[in-house]
Amino acid sequence: MKSLLFILLLFCLIAPTFCIAGKFWQITDQHYDWIYKYKSKPHSGECRTGEGDAGFYGDYDCDIPWLTVESAVQEMAKIEPNVDFVINSGDTWPHAGGSAEQKLQTIANVTNILRKYFPNTPVFYSPGNHDFEPKHDCAPGANAWLARMADAISPILTTEQKKTYLQGGYYSQVIEGIRVVIINTILYYGHNHYTTNAEGDLSNQYAFITSQLDEAYENDEKVLFVGHVSPGFEERFGDMGFHEKFNEPFLKVFEEHPHKEVILASLYGHLHSDSFRLSENAGPLLLSPALTPWKNYHTKLGVPNNLGMGRLFTYNKIDKALLKYEQYYADLQTCNEDMTLKWQLEYDTSQEPYYMQDLSLLSFEKLFYKMKNDEDLFNKYLDFNIVMYKTGCDSDCKIRQFCALKFLHKDDFDICKIIHDY
Ligand SMILES: *[C@@H]1O[C@H](CO)[C@@H](O)[C@H](O)[C@H]1NC(C)=O
Repeated sequence: MKSLLFILLLFCLIAPTFCIAGKFWQITDQHYDWIYKYKSKPHSGECRTGEGDAGFYGDYDCDIPWLTVESAVQEMAKIEPNVDFVINSGDTWPHAGGSAEQKLQTIANVTNILRKYFPNTPVFYSPGNHDFEPKHDCAPGANAWLARMADAISPILTTEQKKTYLQGGYYSQVIEGIRVVIINTILYYGHNHYTTNAEGDLSNQYAFITSQLDEAYENDEKVLFVGHVSPGFEERFGDMGFHEKFNEPFLKVFEEHPHKEVILASLYGHLHSDSFRLSENAGPLLLSPALTPWKNYHTKLGVPNNLGMGRLFTYNKIDKALLKYEQYYADLQTCNEDMTLKWQLEYDTSQEPYYMQDLSLLSFEKLFYKMKNDEDLFNKYLDFNIVMYKTGCDSDCKIRQFCALKFLHKDDFDICKIIHDY
């Protein structure tokens, strides 16, 4: 026994990362369309009928078929099956819509495919705006839809987690000393009709966040928040994600907590863009790109993206610091032309071009100021921003990008846009 321990220790000395590196995956915004039809006619953001040029694996004007979802998850498990947990940050459901019954099946099926390829691994799901029925509308407090969603994801919820999920769509679990806190930011979402006139601490979620931070501090844990819609502003068009009245109070919950230093980062999806926010309150906010390529046809400015397969995080098991992530993707046009889904590494934060030391707020601040002074680096960021789907960015676009990355409060963001002081 003793000699075995000795060999293990020796091994750790030779290859320290093997012993101390923990890993987890994040995937988001699948928007899987169960009636996506190859060679149908893209129309109003859907590829379901008619005859046209809708691609085999998905279409920039539409969402994606099941085979693309399964292939992405399969590839994740091929690249790194030994992860401590897997995160789905929401929006399993297609933009084109369907019945409530199909929506619940979609949530269940996407959850189950993650469980199938990552057996015996905790899977977390934070609900997206499209996962509510009607879409975007999440009522505060316990309600019938939350209960039906809880049933759809019941294999991944413990009895204890189900209790808080039913109260507001939030729950937590501690893994390897990291407290993963799933929050339901759809309550504050700007298009949520049910909370247009609501006030105060909806579903007692602020109290939940505070208690999670308290407990983490007492137990010497670190905290990773996971939500769908992030606070602050969209970086390409400048829209606020929340109803305005919720943005400040939400940020304040983190800002005013005496032990916010336990926060590692907050992970989000929703915007279908790869970006980050320098929040001094909730750790760096990391926005993961979507699996769906769907171009937002509601807006003239809508841009598509390539398929953001998933993001593999590495952390240090001793102090829990997030060390890096690797972003994987597929170029949809090439894949459709070749009739082969070719997933590949897009970038690794520790390598070219970011060369980040870790994923701390300080490292993101360094990256921000490097980008500000280095046009080439900023252009690389812009390529990653929409997963290598190249478009331009004029001077207004550049200002919005930098202001949104740096400022989450409305006053700061508005002033930044005027005086360009970022
Ligand atoms: C979900 O999976 C079940 C079982 O494979 C299948 O019968 C059903 O059609 C799927 N539903 C959707 C919306 O994908």
